[in-house]
Amino acid sequence: MADRARNGKVTVVGAGFYGSTTALRLAEYDLFETVVLTDIVEGKPEGLALDINQSRPIEGFETRVVGVGGGSYAGTEGSDVVVITAGLPRKPGMSRMDLIETNAGIVRQVAENVAQTSPDAVVIVVSNPLDEMTALAQLATGFPKARVMGQAGMLDTARFSNNVAEELGVPVASVRTLTLGSHGDTMVPVPSRCTVDGTSLADVLPADRIAHLVDRTRNGGAEVVALLKTGSAYYAPSAAAARMARAVICDSGAVMPVCAWVDGEYGIAGVYLGVEAEIGREGVRKVVEGDLSDSELAGLREAAEAVRAKQADVADL
Ligand code: LAC
Repeated sequence: MADRARNGKVTVVGAGFYGSTTALRLAEYDLFETVVLTDIVEGKPEGLALDINQSRPIEGFETRVVGVGGGSYAGTEGSDVVVITAGLPRKPGMSRMDLIETNAGIVRQVAENVAQTSPDAVVIVVSNPLDEMTALAQLATGFPKARVMGQAGMLDTARFSNNVAEELGVPVASVRTLTLGSHGDTMVPVPSRCTVDGTSLADVLPADRIAHLVDRTRNGGAEVVALLKTGSAYYAPSAAAARMARAVICDSGAVMPVCAWVDGEYGIAGVYLGVEAEIGREGVRKVVEGDLSDSELAGLREAAEAVRAKQADVADL
């Protein structure tokens, strides 16, 4: 495959576990010409990039990873996609919202630099609290709202599917689930859209077990944080972020749950919220409205109002 055309440049800002795992996944797709990994720390992204590049002969991919330390953006110029992972992760017992002030300062600065160096990029935010940091990145870049989105729904949906598969002892491939709303307390798992081998979840599990799985999904990130003791999840989160970047560079039109600007869908407007959206080269092509039960729709509207209030706050942080 060495002669296959690769195109595009993706920059991953932040060389922590989330960022470096995302860079590795993106490189292993062997789709991009270049993956740039940056960090404020000098040496770490360069070292990780070298390490990943040394794996290329074994794994058989040609995408080159370039590490840029010291907070520099040299080498990131003209990126097609930028994934912002910069910021602190949670510690055990913390909510994502506890990170808002610290991470707002970091994300704002990164977003301003991205706007300067990669003015045409599609930006994928993963820093927490996710919905608020996505809104802030849009403000700080001044990019069209469709070109800034956040990663959360695919991760939360994957956690939900994994929970259902484990509960029933079935392959994850037979399970379809969906979560919408915020990547936080007002996450809205959508059991009415969940199936196992095409059969509605409600027909294969009793209501109390579904409620338990919904609850475990909502706390999926905190469950990992509590076990790790330091840092937060990165394997599942990076898988989700990398898929979003891939949908952009391939202009695939894939429909996936993401944090996107909502402008009238579900009777909700003017807020970044977890919804299903069609993703392509220009970012969010459109928000896709699906059928929801009355209580799920009420949950989504409640989530919208909760994140709307917080998103207004971040403008001043
Ligand atoms: C999580 C973090 C990354 O949910 O938000 O694991």
